[in-house]
Amino acid sequence: MNNNFYITTPIYYVNDVPHIGHAYTTLACDVLARYKKARGYNVFFLTGTDEHGQKVEKSALANGENPIELADRVMQRFAALWDKLNINNTDFIRTTQQRHKDGVQKIFTQIEANGDIYLGSYEDWYCTPCETFWTETNLIDGCCPDCGRPTEKLKEKSYFFRMSKYQQQLIDHIENHPDFIQPRSRRNEVLNFVREGLRDLSISRTSFSWGIPVPNDEKHVIYVWFDALNNYITALGYPDDKDGNFKKFWPANVHVIGKDILRFHAVYWPTFLMAAGLPLPEKVFAHGWWTVEGKKMSKSLQNVVEPNMLVDKYGIDPIRYFLLREVPFGLDGDFSHSSLIHRINSDLANDLGNLISRSTAMVNKYFDGILPEQFAATEFDDVFISQFPDKIAIIDQQMNNLAFNKALLSIWELVRSANKYIDDTAPWALAKDEDKRQHLGGVMYNLLEAVRIIGLLVSPFMPDTGMAIMDILGQDKDNLSLDGQDQWGKLVAGVVIEKAKPMFPRIVED
Ligand code: ME8
Repeated sequence: MNNNFYITTPIYYVNDVPHIGHAYTTLACDVLARYKKARGYNVFFLTGTDEHGQKVEKSALANGENPIELADRVMQRFAALWDKLNINNTDFIRTTQQRHKDGVQKIFTQIEANGDIYLGSYEDWYCTPCETFWTETNLIDGCCPDCGRPTEKLKEKSYFFRMSKYQQQLIDHIENHPDFIQPRSRRNEVLNFVREGLRDLSISRTSFSWGIPVPNDEKHVIYVWFDALNNYITALGYPDDKDGNFKKFWPANVHVIGKDILRFHAVYWPTFLMAAGLPLPEKVFAHGWWTVEGKKMSKSLQNVVEPNMLVDKYGIDPIRYFLLREVPFGLDGDFSHSSLIHRINSDLANDLGNLISRSTAMVNKYFDGILPEQFAATEFDDVFISQFPDKIAIIDQQMNNLAFNKALLSIWELVRSANKYIDDTAPWALAKDEDKRQHLGGVMYNLLEAVRIIGLLVSPFMPDTGMAIMDILGQDKDNLSLDGQDQWGKLVAGVVIEKAKPMFPRIVED
C-alpha cells in the first residue's frame, strides 16, 4: 500500500487579504491532512501564496509599494492566520522563492524542447482581475464572463502552449477516471468545455514585468497561471528532487480548490502535465462559494468576514467546526453570526460539551474518578457498543470522499447516542442500589470509552478539543492517532479521569 498522501490548497493571491473563503479551503485541507495522519499516512500538506502577475503589480503600485514589499507583507498575514487557525501545513510555497522560479523555468524549457511551446502573436480581450484572455464571443456586453468587470484589448507577441494537442487525451482521461473531478456535477461542466474545443494557450506576457522571465527571452514573463499551477510540483523539489519528495508524493492525492478556479486545475494543469510527461493528480475537488448574510463578500461592501476576529470572539475549534459542519463540501453556503452561534450552542455546548461534563462528573462522583472495569449488563450496553465499528468505517469513507459535514453528522450520531445512553441507563438510579455497582461501573466504562473514541474522531476538526479530551481521560494528548486506537476497549480500567470543566460555554446572541 502506498502510504504517502499529498494534499494542496490553492496558493492565494497577495493582493487580497485573507477572509473566511480562504480560511475555508485551508481548513478543509488541514482536517483531511490531520485525519490521514491519524490513519497512519505520511502526509505532505502544501499551501502558499501566488505573488506574481499584473494584478499584484497593479495593487502594489496603487499602494506605493514594490510588488515584493506587498507580497512580503500580505504573505505574513496568511501565514499568521494559518498559525492562528491551528493549520499544520508541511510547507508554505511562495512563487517568488528561488526554488519555484528555477523549477518553473526548467519546466518551461522542457515543454518547449518537447515542441509544445512556440512563439506567436496574440490579440484578444484581457480581464486583469481574473488574469484571463477571452475571445470576443465569450464577453458579456464587453465585460468578463466570470467576474463581470471591463476587459481591455491586448495585442502582443506571446509564447503559446499547444493545449489544443491534448484535447482528446484530456477527454479520455476525464472519462476514464470518474473521480478525477469532484463533485461529479462539476465534471460535466469541464467535459462540455473541453469538448467545445481547446485553443492553444498564451503563456507569456510582455506588457508588464512582475513575473518569472521566459528562459532566453527576458522581454517576456511567464503567464501567472503557468507559473502558479506549477507550485504543486516545485514545492516537492521538481525537477531536481534533491530530497526525494517529488518521487514520494507526486501525483497529488487531491488538489482542493474553490469552484472559481476549476478550469485552471481541471483543464490547463492536466495538459501542462501531459506535455511534461508527468502523471496527473488523482483528484481535483472544487468546493462551493461562501456568501455573507446573503451577499457576495466584497471589499466595497465591507462585509468581508475576517477570520482573526471570529477566532478572537468564538475560539478556534468552534470556527473550525462550524465552517465544515454548516455546508456540504461542494455546495455554496451562507455565513451568518446567528447560525454560527446556534451551532456552537446546540452541537458543541449542548451535545458534545454536556456529554463530556456529565460522564466525567459521574465517574468522579460514583468512583472517585477511577475508571471501573468493562461490564455489559443489559441490551442497552451491547447495542450502544456495537454501533462503533460500523460508524467508524462509514466516517472513514466520508472523510476519503471529502464529505466533511456528513462525517461530522456521523460523529454526532455517536455523541447523541452516548447522551441517550445516559438517559436510558439512568446511572443516578443504579447508584442508589449497591447490588448494581458493577453494572454502574460498566456504564461508566462505556461512556468514557465512547468519549475517548469520539475525542479521537473530532480531533482532525478540533485538534485542541481532541487534546483536551485525551488529557481529561489520562491519555497521551499528543497521540491522536486513530490507527490502532479506534477499537473499542482500549481505555484501561484504573486510569484516573478528571472532572471536565465546561469546554464550550454557551454564547448569548448580542
Ligand atoms: O485564485 N468562498 O487565488 P485567490 C469560498 N492565486 N472559497 C473562497 C471564497 C469564497 N467566497 N473566496 C476565496 C487564486 N475562496 C489563485 C490560485 S492556485 C495554483 C492559484 C478560496 O486568492 C477558494 O479556495 O483568488 C478559491 O479557489 C481561492 O480562495 C481563490 O484564491
